[in-house]
Amino acid sequence: MFDALTRQPDDPLLALIGLYRKDERPGKVDLGVGVYRDETGHTPIFRAVKEAEKRLHETQDSKAYVGPEGDLVFVDRLWTLVGGDTINRSHLAGVQTPGGSGALRLAADLIRQMGGKRIWIGLPSWMNHASIFKAAGLETAGYPFFDVPSQTVLFDTMMSALQGASAGDAVLLHAGCHNPTGGVISEAQWLEIAAVVAERGLLPLVDLAYQGFGRGLEEDVVGLRHLIGIVPETLIAVSCSKSFGLYRERTGAIFAVTTSSSSADTVRSNLAGLARTSYSMPPDHGAAIVRTILSDADLARDWKEELETMRLRISGIRQSLAEGLRDRWQALGAIAAQEGMFSLLPLAEADVMRLRNEHGIYMPGSGRINIAGLKTAEVGDVIDKLKN
Ligand code: LMR
Repeated sequence: MFDALTRQPDDPLLALIGLYRKDERPGKVDLGVGVYRDETGHTPIFRAVKEAEKRLHETQDSKAYVGPEGDLVFVDRLWTLVGGDTINRSHLAGVQTPGGSGALRLAADLIRQMGGKRIWIGLPSWMNHASIFKAAGLETAGYPFFDVPSQTVLFDTMMSALQGASAGDAVLLHAGCHNPTGGVISEAQWLEIAAVVAERGLLPLVDLAYQGFGRGLEEDVVGLRHLIGIVPETLIAVSCSKSFGLYRERTGAIFAVTTSSSSADTVRSNLAGLARTSYSMPPDHGAAIVRTILSDADLARDWKEELETMRLRISGIRQSLAEGLRDRWQALGAIAAQEGMFSLLPLAEADVMRLRNEHGIYMPGSGRINIAGLKTAEVGDVIDKLKN
């Protein structure tokens, strides 16, 4: 029966991890998958995470099931970070998920369950977005969001697409630190988006995967908070992979902002039911770590400080890259003002392959670079190789 299957291509982004590992050249540079690296090329465990793990090791006395909704204290503390006090908490349904991808999948399943058929995605987007939504049975509709040669967000195109969407359609928005472009939506633009979304009766699904890596922990959710203050119903998929460095622990949550406590209760029961038929219950360890950090003022302070040093390192690399590249591609001066781990370079796939084969510089075929993968000492050399 397995004969009925055909070989599926490897995920091109994740395949880069293996290709890079196999490369034995000493000067190789990994600008592929989105993980933070420090100046030594290492992806560190946050000090606060290590301390939380120690405490959990000493105090945790059971591994009995938690339940399909996960750790509700984690969910509550995480919401404080994301939403602050913008909404009445009794109108909020939150469920812990296996990472941000698990949250996106649960959101897509929920949209299907409530009769939604279509989701709008600005292009380019994270390459797994459309795949996740399609796997859940949603139709995806794309519109151009970012112009690579000029490095500009196509805000008017986005607004026209939203104006043309039908009531009940879902629309995917990146909270900030846009993956893959780094393109920034201003506060004023968020207000315009929120107005159109509310007026057209659309359901926003906001992907928040890089809180703290753009302008700062609070600053990175300003747009999102405007949105939930204006639009009656919103879904928010949160990933703790980058913000807490918990990549492999698969830690995240899906939140639904609803209009009443009874609606929140119904949504929560649907999310729990969908989780139960998919993975039953989310893994506990990462959520227990985040709960421990966010429940302790000292650990939370230390985590914020370390996150801020990461943000500043990325921002510094952005400035140097922009400075070095703008004489060859003037538009790339924009990299300095972009946010988060990624920027999208105007490279053809042949250029990407040449950089990989001749120089050991790894990035996906799209030309997306993980800025956080660069060490300061490498920037000059990488700029030279990009220019030639
Ligand atoms: C990325 O875009 O590199 C990250 O979000 C990792 C992933 O799962 O693709």
